[in-house]
This record gives sequence, structure tokens and C-alpha cells, in this order.
Amino acid sequence: MKHQAAGTVIYAAAWCKHQPAGTVVLDLVSNHTPELKHLFVQESARGAGVGTTLCAWTETYAALAGFDKLYLSVGTDNDGARRLYERLGFIPTGRSTTTTYQYVDDDGQKQWATETDDVFERSLVD
Ligand SMILES: CC(C)(COP(=O)(O)OP(=O)(O)OC[C@H]1O[C@@H](n2cnc3c(N)ncnc32)[C@H](O)[C@@H]1OP(=O)(O)O)[C@@H](O)C(=O)NCCC(=O)NCCS
Repeated sequence: MKHQAAGTVIYAAAWCKHQPAGTVVLDLVSNHTPELKHLFVQESARGAGVGTTLCAWTETYAALAGFDKLYLSVGTDNDGARRLYERLGFIPTGRSTTTTYQYVDDDGQKQWATETDDVFERSLVD
């Protein structure tokens, strides 16, 4: 909330026919600054370019903010998202991170999960 108010973490949403179709976060104070985070498109809206559009918005905003690279982390088993990012020109940096986090499952139970992500980068200059 503090970073959002300061404009250093920006939350963007894409809308299709007055419905929210997808969201993304641009983090300008992460460990991999600037970082594209939490890209998510509603299942019913997938495959229609919403994810691509949200990535493009993030790239434009980061470039206007003066950055020459954009980073993101993607799960080692998230083949669909990896394909999307590679198509958009992101390349693996060779770095990876492992995170353990808690989430609430479909039955409302708290669960722990561990995820390994590869860090990708894309140049924002020609
Ligand atoms: C990955 C994701 C954001 C793609 O959004 P999208 O709006 O479908 O993306 P676009 O329409 O712009 O591009 C489609 C590309 O996304 C990928 N993709 C991943 N899952 C897909 C799905 N269920 N349906 C269609 N495309 C999918 C494909 O690589 C496809 O590229 P291709 O047409 O060259 O095969 C979306 O599937 C999603 O929200 N997935 C769950 C959350 C997630 O994994 N986010 C990434 C975290 S790093």
C-alpha cells in the first residue's frame, strides 16, 4: 500500500467488455528492479492477447520510468507462461529463486507450497 501510494509498485488491470480480464504488477523496488509480477488472465479470456497487452504496458511504463531492462520470475514448470515470455523477447538470466509460501486452497484450508522460479530479462532499448 505504501509503495502503491508512492508510485513504486503499480497495479494494472485489463478490461474486456466492462469486465476485468487480467492484472499485472510492476514493481520498481523489487530485488530484480524493475520487475513484472503476478501476471494473471481470467481463464475465459486466455489466448486472446490480454497477457501480451499487459506485458507491453509494463514494458512501456518501465521504459518511460528510465529503466533499460525488465525482469520477471517464472515457475520452472509453467510452460505456458514461459512460452509467452519467450515469444515477447524475455531470455533466461541463469538465476533462479526458491520461495516457500502459504496459500488458502479451494476448501479454505491453509497450505504451504515451495516454488522454484527462473529469472528472465528483456532489454527495453533497441
Ligand atoms: C500465462 C497467461 C498470463 C497468458 O495470458 P493470455 O492472455 O492467455 O496470453 P496471450 O493471449 O497474450 O498469449 C497466449 C500465450 O500464452 C500462453 N498460454 C499459457 N496458458 C494459456 C492458456 N490457458 N490459453 C492460451 N494461451 C496460454 C501461450 O504460450 C500462448 O502463446 P501461443 O499462442 O504462442 O501459444 C495466462 O495463461 C494466465 O493467467 N495463466 C495463469 C497465471 C500464470 O501462470 N501467470 C504467469 C505467472 S509468471
